[in-house]
Amino acid sequence: ALLSTTPMLEKAKADNHGIVAFNVHSFDSIFWVLEAAAELKSPVILQTTVGTVKSLGPKNIVQVAKAASEHYDIPTGLHLDHCTDFEVIKEAIRAGYTSVMIDASMHPFEENVTRTKEVIQLAKSLGVNVEAELGKVGGVEDDIVVADEDAQKAVPEECKQFVEMTGVPTLAPAIGTAHGIYKGKPDIDFDRIAAIAEMVDVPLVLHGGSAVPDADVRRCVSLGMAKVNVSTELKNAYSEAIRHHFAAKPDSLDPRAYLQKAKDAAKEMAKSKIRMVGSEGKV
Ligand code: 13P
Ligand code: ZN
Ligand code: NA
Repeated sequence: ALLSTTPMLEKAKADNHGIVAFNVHSFDSIFWVLEAAAELKSPVILQTTVGTVKSLGPKNIVQVAKAASEHYDIPTGLHLDHCTDFEVIKEAIRAGYTSVMIDASMHPFEENVTRTKEVIQLAKSLGVNVEAELGKVGGVEDDIVVADEDAQKAVPEECKQFVEMTGVPTLAPAIGTAHGIYKGKPDIDFDRIAAIAEMVDVPLVLHGGSAVPDADVRRCVSLGMAKVNVSTELKNAYSEAIRHHFAAKPDSLDPRAYLQKAKDAAKEMAKSKIRMVGSEGKV
């Protein structure tokens, strides 16, 4: 069965380790992410963007995720990533997602509160986790594009107010990471994370996990960022293996040949991220 990510993340935070939420883009990837997690006996979260929900269908995603979680027999959550549309959130919850993100970070504080509360009202009684964002995470994720100059770090006092006003069970404060691969080094504000964690009890979420040095991610986790989102590096590992294959064999025909290489590369990447957050053996 797919589990609500609220208790998963609360437990991880209390135990001072993180859980990786991997963005998956195909039915295949659901299986190999869970295979990686199972080999390391680690709990894991699968997440899909709105684009992936539209391309694969929410019910199909839920069925495949359920089947895979039962097959590999590890604690698995299924999360809707960065959603701005209440209708899609409702659809995902109805289909069986166990966690949803309402991303209203592009709106003023009060409206972010209102939109988040609306989702919580629906999700709470069903045991579905809710994640909201404060500040603005820079970079590109699906249709959400935030230019570097528009990225904005979350204000600790506002995080406290936001959690009190909404009762949101998981919070993603922007603290200097960005979606995608950095041009330079990420400018992570550890003092800010500490200040936020001091003021709110809920597990925090680290967005833009790709290309953040392992030591920095571990420091974020130790400060209370229990959910670590990874998308770009997994896609890169997968696509790079396919590019390599076709560079050597442009006429290649058997999909199993190149998909196996892509899977192997992405699985190794997934395992390195699981080890990074310390969730190995935590099943
Ligand atoms: P990256 O693409 O930097 O890994 O960010 C992932 C993310 O935050 C998904 O919400
Ligand atoms: Zn994100
Ligand atoms: Na990133």
